[in-house]
Amino acid sequence: MNIFHLINIITAYKPNKYSKLLKEGTKEAHDLIEQHPFFRDLLNGTLPDVKYAYYLANILPIYELVEQEFLSNVTDKSVLQSTKIKKDLENYSNLLNRKIDNSTYNYSFAWVMYFKQKSRTYKKAELYVRWLADMYGGQVLKKKVKYGEKYKFKNLRKNIKFIRKMIEEDLNDDTIQKFIEEVNIVYKLHNFTISHIYQYVE
Ligand code: HEM
Repeated sequence: MNIFHLINIITAYKPNKYSKLLKEGTKEAHDLIEQHPFFRDLLNGTLPDVKYAYYLANILPIYELVEQEFLSNVTDKSVLQSTKIKKDLENYSNLLNRKIDNSTYNYSFAWVMYFKQKSRTYKKAELYVRWLADMYGGQVLKKKVKYGEKYKFKNLRKNIKFIRKMIEEDLNDDTIQKFIEEVNIVYKLHNFTISHIYQYVE
């Protein structure tokens, strides 16, 4: 992705004051995960395909739950990430000649349990972390993976606005601090999952 493409994406949306607070309050966690060896190796092209494939299998249940809650009636199906992830998983299963699902390595169980008990507003923390990760960082990662259907969007600027708007609808003086905390917890759960995959999957 060249610099113009990146600017085009970053300027897709004019954040309101709550989105700005959210970005500031979660920047440290974002930068920590961006520098995790899992993503460092992925960016360097040295992460084994099998680890990336089990990463997809582990995050799929989260995407499915978020979509059931918030995106069941969308007209633009290109924001339905689980469909794309399943396509990527099928390709990795064929490439690696083994069935890739989360029955062998399941490191997102606690994450899923945590998600289920949250109220609707704070469930949007996942919409924020996962969808924006795919829409921003994903545009860099897309070139580093063999199958990156997950990072393809029909109209990225429009899709960013759509997801951002859904998140902002629930952000106000009463919710913002807890929302920031919830996003930081999501980053920790995500970190736990990738650390285990990085260490144990082979
Ligand atoms: C691994 C390489 C990654 C790169 C290169 C990267 C890069 C970026 C960039 C350039 C932005 C836009 C920043 C801006 O608007 O100024 C962004 C935003 C974001 N990224 Fe990442 N990212 C990466 C990984 C991740 C991961 C693994 C996650 C989640 C687990 C993530 C979650 C997010 C979120 C939630 C935002 C939106 C921040 C906001 O504007 O509020 N990123 N990322």
